[in-house]
Parts: sequence; C-alpha cells; structure tokens
Amino acid sequence: PSVIAVLPAAGVGSRMQADCPKQYLTIGQHSILEHAIHALLRHPRIQRVIVAIGPEDRQFEQLPIARDPRISVAVGGRQRADSVMAGLKLAGDAQWVLVHDAARPCLHADDLERLLAITEHSKVGGILAAPVRDTMKRAEPGQNAISHTVERQDLWHALTPQLFPLALLKQCLQRALDEGATVTDEASALEHCGYHPLLVSGRSDNIKVTRPEDLALAAFYLTQLDN
Ligand code: CTP
Ligand code: MG
Repeated sequence: PSVIAVLPAAGVGSRMQADCPKQYLTIGQHSILEHAIHALLRHPRIQRVIVAIGPEDRQFEQLPIARDPRISVAVGGRQRADSVMAGLKLAGDAQWVLVHDAARPCLHADDLERLLAITEHSKVGGILAAPVRDTMKRAEPGQNAISHTVERQDLWHALTPQLFPLALLKQCLQRALDEGATVTDEASALEHCGYHPLLVSGRSDNIKVTRPEDLALAAFYLTQLDN
C-alpha cells in the first residue's frame, strides 16, 4: 500500500537559540532538514515527502532538494499540529501517512523498516518509541520536591516517525484541534479519539535536535548511520 510522508518543518527553534530555525543548521554535508528528508526518501515505499515550512521561510527554496520532484511544500501553522494538518491536506488519497520531525536527522533505515512492517498489519497505526531508562519522579504540583516515584516499567519516550492510516489521522487530528486537546504528536490525536496506536521499539539515538548541546550528539550519531 502507498505511503506518503509529512515532515513538519515550520518551527522557529527557540530553544536552540541559533540565527536561523534549527532545521537549517548544517551537520556534515547537509542541513538537519535534508538529513531527515534523505532518511525518508531512502525507503523504496516512500515516493513523496510533503514538507511544511513557515510562511516567511526563504531558506527551503535555496536547498537543492527543493527541486526534487518527490518533494511538495505546504505552508505550516502556529503549532506543530497545524503544520502537520496543512501537510495532510496535500496528501491526496494515499493509504498510509508517515509523519516525521524535520529536527530528527539520525533516523536509521532499520527503524523505519520495522515501523512499517509492524504497523501496517494494524488498523490504527503506531509510533517509534524508546523505553524510559531513568528513574522517574513526579513532583509536588508546582514545586521542586518529590511527590513520588513513577513506575518506569511501562513508560516510553514517543519518537517519530509515526505511521497512521491517512483518513484516520486526518479525522482525529481535526477533531483534537477543534476540541482544544493537547496534541504534541500524532498519536495523541488518536488517543484523544479513543484509539490505542502501537508502540514499536526504536533506537534512542533517533534524537530530536532541541538544545545547542544536541548538535554535537547528532553529528556523532550521523557518523554512525549505516544508511
Ligand atoms: N514544527 C512545525 N510547526 C510549528 C512548530 C514546530 O512544523 N508551528 C516542527 C518543527 O520544525 C520540528 C518539529 O515540529 O521539526 C518538532 O518541534 P520542536 O522540536 O518543538 O521545534 P521548534 O518548535 O522549532 O523548536 P522550539 O519549540 O524550541 O521553538
Ligand atoms: Mg516547538
């Protein structure tokens, strides 16, 4: 079945405190955004990537990849979910949609393959996720004091890509946005509508470049990539 990819890349990267949005920072030969696009296009089933860029963005069109016929551009919105929604509207009638962060350049081919292989047998979709390793503490509300330890056993870090049936994701994301739900990833929109997407164990080096110190880490992980 056909898979289309949506890459939200309309953020400003405030926590990175760089001179440009973090997805345009260069690591090695390419920008973070290009690394993320290449990781998706390397998979034979992903024929098209819709990149949601900021309304004021003049950097994307400068990239060589912008002229690749497999790339389409959508205009992103205020929140990540708005940018994803803008991308979904251009997705046509693909059966499945894969959503990945522009700020995650270190995706391995085997993680992407495993997500597709496991999730396409479900009706609801699923996400890459990594088991939590540290001991987790719940704070007293608004305070820097421990209320109690949270059982780590069944806690996961949500990663991307996340893969869903296109029509289902569109419907759930629209409803979640209309009802004012907190939607920080695609799975949370499905959860809002009562679905239980699969957790597919992924590599923890698939980091989201968020703060300045993440750049050196991503640069190192990129040297370890086999794809
Ligand atoms: N994103 C988007 N549209 C928005 C906000 C975020 O497309 N309105 C994208 C970002 O470009 C990024 C991904 O969503 O690829 C994950 O978001 P995040 O790491 O929070 O990026 P920023 O919002 O750019 O960073 P910050 O929160 O530090 O400002
Ligand atoms: Mg953000």
